[in-house]
Amino acid sequence: MKNGGGVEDSVVVSTDKLVRTFRVGRSELVALKDVSLEFHRGEFAGLVGPSGSGKTTLLNIIGTLDTPTSGTATVLGERVEKLSPGQAAALRSRQIGFIFQTFNLLPVYSAYENVEFPLLLLGLSSAERRKKVTDALEWVGLADRAKSKPTQLSGGESQRVAIARAVVKRPELVLADEPTANLDAENSHKILQTMVGLNRDLGTTFIFSTHDEKVIRYLRRKISLVDGKVANDEARSPNTD
Ligand SMILES: Nc1ncnc2c1ncn2[C@@H]1O[C@H](COP(=O)(O)OP(=O)(O)OP(=O)(O)O)[C@@H](O)[C@H]1O
Ligand SMILES: [Mg+2]
Repeated sequence: MKNGGGVEDSVVVSTDKLVRTFRVGRSELVALKDVSLEFHRGEFAGLVGPSGSGKTTLLNIIGTLDTPTSGTATVLGERVEKLSPGQAAALRSRQIGFIFQTFNLLPVYSAYENVEFPLLLLGLSSAERRKKVTDALEWVGLADRAKSKPTQLSGGESQRVAIARAVVKRPELVLADEPTANLDAENSHKILQTMVGLNRDLGTTFIFSTHDEKVIRYLRRKISLVDGKVANDEARSPNTD
């Protein structure tokens, strides 16, 4: 990979006339149509729009889990549609963190082990791993729950473990698909405060999808998708009180 998957300038993600269609029976469903967007390092941006508007499809392409039907997506200096599956996996394991609606924690492992998991692929010593995992659990305010299993944690705590897992390797980019969909208002607020703090302190770029008003008020950029197209793209002053 050129420049080791790093970033030459401050553009972390760009898409140009991105199209993604799916074949459904005999017809073709257009999930994304001519999406041209640019995200810069340190952004805290959200994709909003009704169910079916293409939010997850776009995050999956940005996260190199899927490829466009036409158009281009450039992520951390790499053209997504040109990466082999192995190259895409390597880019994800080093530079991209994922946060899902359903947390996706491994149930038999402790919070500590769940956060350690992405580091096992990176060839670090156990002492290096311990430092990173301890730091990440501290960032999300769960240092004292390191030994707890997911079943012993609340939904909000589980999602904070998932955030720690997403940021433990200090990725350039974190993608979060409806991270608060299964949380109540108080836990959503805590999750967003945690992510705002990580964005500020570590400079990590966050791209969310959401239709949750509680999330939208934290965004510094709101991109509205309607029927797979960018209907609006606006900078905002976040209200995080
Ligand atoms: N693998 C697939 N095969 C067929 N159609 C798909 C596939 N993935 C997504 N779609 C369709 O693409 C469109 C966009 O879906 P997508 O999941 O991106 O929407 P979304 O904005 O994330 O919605 P939600 O808010 O419900 O999560 C939908 O019409 C969906 O049915
Ligand atoms: Mg979705």
